[in-house]
Amino acid sequence: MTVTLPDLAATAALGTAIAGQLAPGDVVLLKGDLGSGKTMLARAILAALGVDETVPSPTFTLVQTYETPRFAVSHYDLYRLKHPSELDELGLDEALDNGAALIEWPERAESRLPLGALTVHLMADHERRAALMGPARWHSLESTYV
Ligand SMILES: Nc1ncnc2c1ncn2[C@@H]1O[C@H](COP(=O)(O)OP(=O)(O)OP(=O)(O)O)[C@@H](O)[C@H]1O
Ligand SMILES: [Mg+2]
Repeated sequence: MTVTLPDLAATAALGTAIAGQLAPGDVVLLKGDLGSGKTMLARAILAALGVDETVPSPTFTLVQTYETPRFAVSHYDLYRLKHPSELDELGLDEALDNGAALIEWPERAESRLPLGALTVHLMADHERRAALMGPARWHSLESTYV
């Protein structure tokens, strides 16, 4: 499914729809060029899950974990990863035991990522939009995103 994201309200609505389906063990891959809106969507998902603290872009720490009333969510930004093997030190397996993960720049460690993720490809060329691809259980997003 592809949706247009003309403003941050649209990003918030998409974040709410994704948050509503998110469960422990889930991975959301946030792809797209610099400035395409990956962090904004991660913030929208976290806000919908009840995170009210500031969500910085984890550019230097590479990962920041948030407690939500439902489960923990780890927000990764792999832009500065030099080699996919560095992901092994960032605790993704442990994070997925009890929580979910949102991963910006997953291309940096594609070979190390679990299968079955929801991929959101953000684009910001002539208009902002998001293309979503994932296993069947994510297909109901189409009916929850309005
Ligand atoms: N739906 C939207 N409508 C309008 N502006 C948006 C939207 N989504 C994001 N932006 C704006 O685009 C800018 C970049 O967004 P963001 O930081 O989320 O990009 P990013 O993909 O995470 O970039 P990076 O690759 O550097 O991490 C922000 O200033 C944000 O306000
Ligand atoms: Mg970002």
